[in-house]
Amino acid sequence: MKKSAYDIDIFFKDYVLNNSKFSFDRAVVLKENLKNKKITSILDLACGTGLFLNEMAKNFDLKYGVGLDLSENMIKYAKNHNQSQILEFIKGDMTDFCLKKTFDLITCNYDAINHLNLFEDWQKMFDKVYEHLNSGGIFTFDFNTLLKLKNFNRDSYYECEDYNCVWHNTNKNNKFNFNFSYYVKQKNGNYKLIKSSQTESTFSHKLITKALKLSGFNHIEFCDKNFKKCCPNKVFRCFVICKK
Ligand SMILES: C[S@@+](CC[C@H](N)C(=O)[O-])C[C@H]1O[C@@H](n2cnc3c(N)ncnc32)[C@H](O)[C@@H]1O
Repeated sequence: MKKSAYDIDIFFKDYVLNNSKFSFDRAVVLKENLKNKKITSILDLACGTGLFLNEMAKNFDLKYGVGLDLSENMIKYAKNHNQSQILEFIKGDMTDFCLKKTFDLITCNYDAINHLNLFEDWQKMFDKVYEHLNSGGIFTFDFNTLLKLKNFNRDSYYECEDYNCVWHNTNKNNKFNFNFSYYVKQKNGNYKLIKSSQTESTFSHKLITKALKLSGFNHIEFCDKNFKKCCPNKVFRCFVICKK
């Protein structure tokens, strides 16, 4: 099985500290926009820490919920912080899974889909989602767009209690290249440098639509974060809502 960048401990720690808000906010928006739908089961692909599913479990009357992620660290964290008896967290690849259950809602949040570098993997994932979705069910994901890729070259720096981080981002070879240098404080006061990098890909909304249709989806909408229709060429992050 592939290895996740999130299994580098400092990268994982940094993610947990600084990136949890996105999936919490997404749960709040979904709660509001799906309140009239009967949702009794949720599958969250690339579930990360499990925060999203725990929040969803508070707001929907679920019979079961499953979180699936490639990273050992994420799954361990999600299991340790699971607040609900009906949630289950499984290590797995979102392009190739078989859960022997179907769901009313399938999600894949926070540009996790961009982690799939080959477009054939996006297609495999859409096929798997369609297979695991109940008839009338909803699939929603968000992705970093080609517009974001064009504007991606930037550096940033921030300090945390026991480490500092320098990000150097480039859009080399038509891909998002994230390069992180963590300066981690040691017991003797010195700093140890730990480097980590990650590549993400994106594709045109036309290609994404074609792949979703090929998997069987007919009703496909490109939206902003508040479920308002938008033009994917004009936003950095696009939310897609598909119905089976
Ligand atoms: C940006 S994080 C998003 C996590 C979570 N969805 C959230 O909103 O916080 C990306 C996640 O995708 C996971 N991931 C990357 N490739 C994957 C794959 N092929 N299958 C399952 N998970 C994957 C990583 O391990 C990581 O947890």
